Amino acid sequence: MFNEFDKIYSETPQLYGNEPSDWVRKILEYRKAPALVLDIGICYGRNALFLAKNGYTIEGVDISQVAIDKCLKEANKNNLDIRCYCENINDFIFNKKYDIIFSTATLQYLGNKEKVFSVIEKMKKNTMVGGLNIISAPTDTKIGMDFPYYFNKKELKNFYNNWDILEFNEEEDLFSTGKIGTIAFIIAKKR
Ligand SMILES: C[S@@+](CC[C@H](N)C(=O)[O-])C[C@H]1O[C@@H](n2cnc3c(N)ncnc32)[C@H](O)[C@@H]1O
Repeated sequence: MFNEFDKIYSETPQLYGNEPSDWVRKILEYRKAPALVLDIGICYGRNALFLAKNGYTIEGVDISQVAIDKCLKEANKNNLDIRCYCENINDFIFNKKYDIIFSTATLQYLGNKEKVFSVIEKMKKNTMVGGLNIISAPTDTKIGMDFPYYFNKKELKNFYNNWDILEFNEEEDLFSTGKIGTIAFIIAKKR
C-alpha cells in the first residue's frame, strides 16, 4: 500500500543526499568487514550502499517500497547484493543475529515510547556478542517536527548501560525545518 513515506520519496528521491551519515562511516573504524549488518530504516540506501561497497553484507528494513526500490536499483547498478524487507519495523521479526545493527533518524517515527523501547530491546538481543549497535535520533522537540517520540536526554545511553559505550553524544544539528535541535547518537558494543 502506498504510504506517506512512499509519497515523500516519490517526490524527493534523494532527500538526504547520497553521502552516508558520518556516524555510519564510523563503522569502518570500529568493526572491519566482513560483517553481517542490519539497517533499520534503510530508505533509499545512502548508508547501506556505502557499507556494501566497503565489503559488508547488508540487510535492511523499511516501510517504503518506493525507497527500497531505489536502493535495490542502485545496488543492482553497482553489482551489490543488498536484501531488503518492506515492513513496519514494529512488526519485523528478527530471525537471526547480526554483527552490527544500526538505525539513523528512524526510531522517532515508531509510535509511542513502548514501541521504540521494544525495537531497541530486539536490536540488542539480536546482536552477536562483540557486535555493535549504532543509533541516532532527535532529542529535542523545538526542531518543529511532529515526531511521535523524542528521546529524553541521556535515555539512549541508559539503554546500553550493560554494553560498552564506544561513543555517545547529544549535539546540535540543522533539521529540514530549518531549525536547530539536539540529536542523540550512540555506538555501543555488546559484552
Ligand atoms: C528520516 S528517514 C532516514 C533514512 C535513513 N536511515 C537515512 O539516514 O538516510 C526515516 C526512514 O524510516 C522509515 N520508516 C518510518 N517509519 C517506519 C516504520 N514504522 N517501519 C519501517 N520503516 C519506517 C521511512 O520510510 C524512512 O525511510
